[in-house]
Amino acid sequence: MNRSDRKQIRTGWIAVSGLFVIGLLAGCIQKESVTISAVHKKVLEERLRPVGTICLHGDPCAQAIPQTSSLSADEKKTPAQLYRIGCAACHDTGIGDAPKIGDRRIWRQRRRSGGIEQLYSSAINGLNTMPARGLCVGCTDQQLRDVVDYIVSKSR
Ligand code: HEC
Repeated sequence: MNRSDRKQIRTGWIAVSGLFVIGLLAGCIQKESVTISAVHKKVLEERLRPVGTICLHGDPCAQAIPQTSSLSADEKKTPAQLYRIGCAACHDTGIGDAPKIGDRRIWRQRRRSGGIEQLYSSAINGLNTMPARGLCVGCTDQQLRDVVDYIVSKSR
């Protein structure tokens, strides 16, 4: 073996080990990225999720929302039925500080402070967080007055 043979062998070894190291690094990097995505996949998915989703009538997520068609004014519906459809969601539960049906004290106060006309007007035009016409967008003014009478009669 002469000098140049040795040199060639050495260069060969350097090249081989160089490749080995590169391969090792590449393996590590690849492995690393796989591990990261496995661990953080859920977190990333969570972060990338749209902030709000829109729920439309007909979507499965909208099943709990009453259908608008059933909220439209229907001459045949009694005030009690209209109450169920358009007002109960809030006035049965007291959600958002809605005066609960049957709460005599609260309804007496309300009647005294503005009179029944004020209550009618609030049902028709809304009051603070109480939406105008509640959920009964198709109700006529007279139907709303009748529903208010119904609520008041149930709260005496
Ligand atoms: C989304 C919830 C919600 C729905 C639906 C709703 N209300 Fe209300 N209602 C409220 C809240 C909240 C208040 C209290 C508002 C306040 O005093 O600031 C209120 C107050 C009232 C008052 C008292 C107003 C006053 O002047 O003191 C009447 C009367 C009334 N609602 C009638 C109705 C009728 C009739 C319906 C159905 C057609 C209805 N509401 C549907 C939330 C609701």
